[in-house]
Amino acid sequence: MARGFTGVFVRTLHRILVTGGAGFIGSAFIRYLLRQSDFTGHIVNYDLLTYAANQEMTSLKHPRYHFIQGDICNQRFIEQLLLEHEIDTIVHFAAESHVDRSIQSAAPFIETNVKGTLHLLEAVKKLPHIHFHHVSTDEVYGTLGESGCFNEHSPYRPNSPYAASKAASDHVVRAFTVTYRLSTTLSHCSNNYGPGQFPEKFIPLMIHHCLEGKPLPVYGQGAQVRDWLYVDDHAAAIWTILQKGKSGEVYDIGAGAEWTNLNLLHLLIDLLAEHTRADPERYRAQIRFVQDRPGHDFRYALDASKIQRELGWKSETPLPTGLKKTIRSYCRARV
Ligand SMILES: NC(=O)c1ccc[n+]([C@@H]2O[C@H](COP(=O)([O-])OP(=O)(O)OC[C@H]3O[C@@H](n4cnc5c(N)ncnc54)[C@H](O)[C@@H]3O)[C@@H](O)[C@H]2O)c1
Repeated sequence: MARGFTGVFVRTLHRILVTGGAGFIGSAFIRYLLRQSDFTGHIVNYDLLTYAANQEMTSLKHPRYHFIQGDICNQRFIEQLLLEHEIDTIVHFAAESHVDRSIQSAAPFIETNVKGTLHLLEAVKKLPHIHFHHVSTDEVYGTLGESGCFNEHSPYRPNSPYAASKAASDHVVRAFTVTYRLSTTLSHCSNNYGPGQFPEKFIPLMIHHCLEGKPLPVYGQGAQVRDWLYVDDHAAAIWTILQKGKSGEVYDIGAGAEWTNLNLLHLLIDLLAEHTRADPERYRAQIRFVQDRPGHDFRYALDASKIQRELGWKSETPLPTGLKKTIRSYCRARV
C-alpha cells in the first residue's frame, strides 16, 4: 500500500483490529461489518471490558470474528497481536466516553483516550503498512450558539475533560500522520443512539427510568441541542471512510436531526408509551429538572456535506424510526 499525508492509495481491508469493539458503537460496527457482502475479511475485537462493555461480544459466534481482552495501553501486547493476526487496518473506538464521569475524575480519560491512542500509534509506526482510523467526537469543537454548524475546519475548543482528551488524541493522530507519514483517517461524530448503549447515557437512562417509575433527570431546563445519529448509520459512515476515504483526511458525520434534550425526551416518552400501551402522562410526571452540568455545551451540530459529497454517505434513519428500534431492543432485553 502506498502511503502519505492526503496520498491516494489502495487500502487492504482483510484483517481489521477493532479497539473497544465491546462498547456501544464498536459492537454495532462489528455486527454491521459482518453483515456486509463486500466485507469478506476477519475482525479481531480488542477490548479491556470496562464497566461500559457489552459482555455478549466476548462470545459472539462467527467464523471471521475473534475476541481478545486487553488494554490499548499495553503496547508490547498490541505489537505482538498486530503481527500474529496480520492486521492491515485498525478502527479505534476504545475510550472512556461519559462526560459526567470525566467531570468527576479526568485522569482515566487522559490515560485511556490520550495515552492509549499514543500507544496504538507507536505500534503502527513500527508497522506502517497498517491503516489507522480514529473515531472522535463533535465535542472537540466546543459549543455553538443558536445557529451555524461545525465542519472539518472548525477550531478545537473542548469544554469538558472528556472533550479535551478526545481533542488531544486527535492532535496526536494528526502529528503521527504528518511526522511519520502514517496512513490515517479521522472522523468526528454527533450523538449516537441505538440498541446496546450503557444505561448511563441519556436515551437508555430515560427508557429504563420510565419503565421503573424512577425520576427522569433533565439538566437545567433541557434546552441543550444535540444532533442524533442512529448507530448503524455511524457504522456505515466508518465503513465508507475505510473503503473510499483519503489518507490524512478528516470527515464529520452528522444526521442533521437537532433536538433539544427536553423535546427529545417528550418524543421518546410518546413512542415508549405507544410501545408499552401506557399513558404518556404517567412518564411525563416523572420528569425532574436538576442542576445543570458544569460547563455544559449548549449546542452541537455538524455539517456532513464533505462525507456526503466526496464519499456518498448520508444518514438514512429518521429519528422516530431509530428510536422505535431502540425502544424495542431495550424492552426485549428487560424481559
Ligand atoms: N456515544 C456517542 O454518542 C459518541 C459520539 C461520537 C464519538 N464517540 C466516540 O466513539 C467511541 C466509542 O464510543 P462508545 O459510546 O461506543 O463508548 P463506550 O463507552 O460504550 O465503549 C467504550 C469501549 O472501550 C473499551 N475500553 C475502555 N478503555 C479501554 C482500554 N484501555 N483498552 C481497551 N478497551 C477499552 C470499553 O471496555 C468499552 O467496551 C469513543 O471513542 C467515543 O469517544 C461516541
